[in-house]
Amino acid sequence: EKGGYAHFTLKEIYEQPKALRDTMTSRIVPGQPIKLDDIHITREMLLHYSRIYIVACGTAYNAGLIGKVAMENLSRIPVEVDVASEFRYRNPLIDNRTLVITISQSGETADTLAVLRDAQTKGARVIAITNVVGSSISREADDVFYTWAGPEIGVASTKAYLTMLVALYAIGIHFAELLDTKTAEELDAIKKELLTLPEKVAEILAHVEKVKDFAQRIHGEKDVFFLGRGLDYQIAVEASLKLKELSYIHSEAYAGGELKHGSIALIEDGISVIAPITQRDLTEKMQSNIKEVVSRGAKVMAVTYAENEDVAKYADEVIYIPSTLDLIAPILAVVPLQLLAYYVALYKGLDVDKPRNLAKSVTVE
Ligand code: M6R
Repeated sequence: EKGGYAHFTLKEIYEQPKALRDTMTSRIVPGQPIKLDDIHITREMLLHYSRIYIVACGTAYNAGLIGKVAMENLSRIPVEVDVASEFRYRNPLIDNRTLVITISQSGETADTLAVLRDAQTKGARVIAITNVVGSSISREADDVFYTWAGPEIGVASTKAYLTMLVALYAIGIHFAELLDTKTAEELDAIKKELLTLPEKVAEILAHVEKVKDFAQRIHGEKDVFFLGRGLDYQIAVEASLKLKELSYIHSEAYAGGELKHGSIALIEDGISVIAPITQRDLTEKMQSNIKEVVSRGAKVMAVTYAENEDVAKYADEVIYIPSTLDLIAPILAVVPLQLLAYYVALYKGLDVDKPRNLAKSVTVE
C-alpha cells in the first residue's frame, strides 16, 4: 500500500501535486469567483467581523502562520494566529464579531476541538479546515473547507500541510472577492499561479539529488538553524519542526532580522544554516544575513527562486525552485525541506513514518 515507496512519508510527499490539484479543482477557476460549497459567509457577515483568529496545533498552526499573512494581505481583515492549547487558557477576546478558523488534519485534536466549542459558546462563528470528512471538528464547525489530501499515514504532516496552505489562500481570495479589497485582475493572477503549483511541485520532486547530498552532509549534526524573513520565516518554522520530529536533530527557526538580537551567538564554525529565500523584496536583507553567518563559519543551504543567481556566491548549496508570485512561493520552498528532513531521518536509520514519542492524532489535552 506504500505504492512502491520505502515509507508512507515519502509517498505522501510525492502525492503533493495530486493533493494540491484535488483541493483546488472546481474551487479555484480563473475568471470565476472562488467556489466554496461548505462555507456560507456573506459580505454583510464579513463586514461585521472585527477580527479573525486562526487556531491550531503543530504543523496546522504553522500553516496558520502563513494563512495570517496571506489572509490579511488579501482581505485586509486583522488576523491573529494562536496555538490552541495557549489560546484556550488566555481568556481570548471572542464575541459574535469574531470569526475563528480552526485547522486540523485529523479533525480530532483535543485542544483545537475545545477552542471550537468555546468560541461557539461565546457567539463566534467557526470555519474548520480539515482533511477528514465526518471528523468531530468538521461536524461541529459552522463552515467547513475539506482539504482533499487523501489519508495521511505518516506521523509527520506533509501533504496535509500543503493543502491547508491552499485552503487558507482560497478562503483569503474568497473574502477579498466579497470585500472588494483586490481587483479581479489581481485575484485572477493569484488563482492562475495557484493552479500552476501541482506541476511546479512535481518539478521539484523530480530533482532531489542536491537535497540528498545536503542530508548526507548534515545527518550527523546536533544542531541546525533555519533562517528566513517574511513568509520565509513561517516556512522556516515548519521546516524546523519537520527536521526535529523526523530526524531528532535539534533545530530552531529564526527571523533573519532577529539574528543580531541574540541568536547569532550560537553561530560557530561548521554549523549548518538553512535559508529559504523566496521573497524578492527581502532577498538583499537575507543575503546580508547569510554573509554574517558565513563569516562566522556556517555552512549554508539556500532554497531560492531561479533568478536569484547571486546567492550562489555566498551559500554552499543552492536549491532552485520554479518562479512564482512571492505570496505563493513559500508553498514551493517547503517541499525540498520536507525531503531534507525525510532523507536525514533515512540516513540515520530512524523510523520515518512513526517517530518516537509521537502520535498521529493528539486526542488528549
Ligand atoms: O490533526 P491535526 O492537524 O490537528 O494535528 C496537529 C498536530 O498534532 C500535527 O500537525 C503534528 O504537529 C504533526 N506531527 C506535525 O508533523
